[in-house]
Amino acid sequence: MNQTPSLKNQAALVTGSDSGIGKGVALALAAAGAKLVINYAHNHDAAEEVVSQIKATGGEAFAIQADVSHEEEVKAMFAQMFARYGTIDILVNNAGVQKDSKFVDMTLDDWNKVIGINLTGQFLCSREAAKEFIRRGVIEDRSSAAGKIICMSSVHEIIPWAGHVNYATSKGGISMFMKSIAQELAPHKIRVVGIGPGAIKTPINKSAWDTPEALDKLLTLIPYNRIGQPNDIGQLAAWLASDQADYITGTTIFMDGGMTLYPGFAENG
Ligand code: NAI
Ligand code: BGC
Repeated sequence: MNQTPSLKNQAALVTGSDSGIGKGVALALAAAGAKLVINYAHNHDAAEEVVSQIKATGGEAFAIQADVSHEEEVKAMFAQMFARYGTIDILVNNAGVQKDSKFVDMTLDDWNKVIGINLTGQFLCSREAAKEFIRRGVIEDRSSAAGKIICMSSVHEIIPWAGHVNYATSKGGISMFMKSIAQELAPHKIRVVGIGPGAIKTPINKSAWDTPEALDKLLTLIPYNRIGQPNDIGQLAAWLASDQADYITGTTIFMDGGMTLYPGFAENG
């Protein structure tokens, strides 16, 4: 068996890859040989920086601005990707936001925004990718699958989160979305998997790690006693997208240093 996951000649789109986990995933997929689309919402310079980093190591990448919660922008992004790379082999639905507040104070706008980007965005992108995977089918010598979809979920797919009801609901929704399309698309040789990260050091949760006090408090929730890094998730995504994971579909892999082990019960209950 080939020991290094190879994504050679495969075209990958990572939504929200100008920052954080998406950037870590894009760099890892590029290191495994994939050519990348770096999607971003607003930060053009950050996206171009990721493109430059990939090109500097001999890889291929270009950036596309698109709001994943807008159908026409998603369709235009896929059209641009197909014009450049001809097709898509790997979609990583990573874009996500938090708009936190107490439940009773939560505005409809903040509810809709989070569900729109985190959940509807995954629907819109997955639908476009699946249509192309079905049209094209398996290409021998490239991958055993006709296509791979990776859905960035969270430990909050299963851990309820007070003060973040819109966010946790979007991640719970991703779980059933991912499993249902995995069931429907498996006969087309399309794999769909979820990644459930624990606390990963990125801008989304800066307040949870940017002071020693905050980090100490966070670490009480992580038995393995370290915060995760974007490259942890990048390595997992590259492996899941490769043929080494060809028999995995319809499940979420948690990568969380044990956050889902209910550490509060270690000396309690
Ligand atoms: P981040 O804030 O660094 O990155 C968010 C990304 O989403 C950015 O690249 C941004 O351009 C993109 N984005 C935001 N709105 C968008 C839109 N409308 N259309 C397209 N792209 C948009 O945060 P992070 O942590 O890298 O988050 C990435 C994913 O990982 C999210 O889905 C988040 O829920 C998930 N996650 C993060 C964890 C963490 O501890 N950092 C843990 C579990 C899940
Ligand atoms: C959230 C982070 C949080 C982590 C662990 C993620 O889904 O986006 O803010 O640190 O879960 O609770």
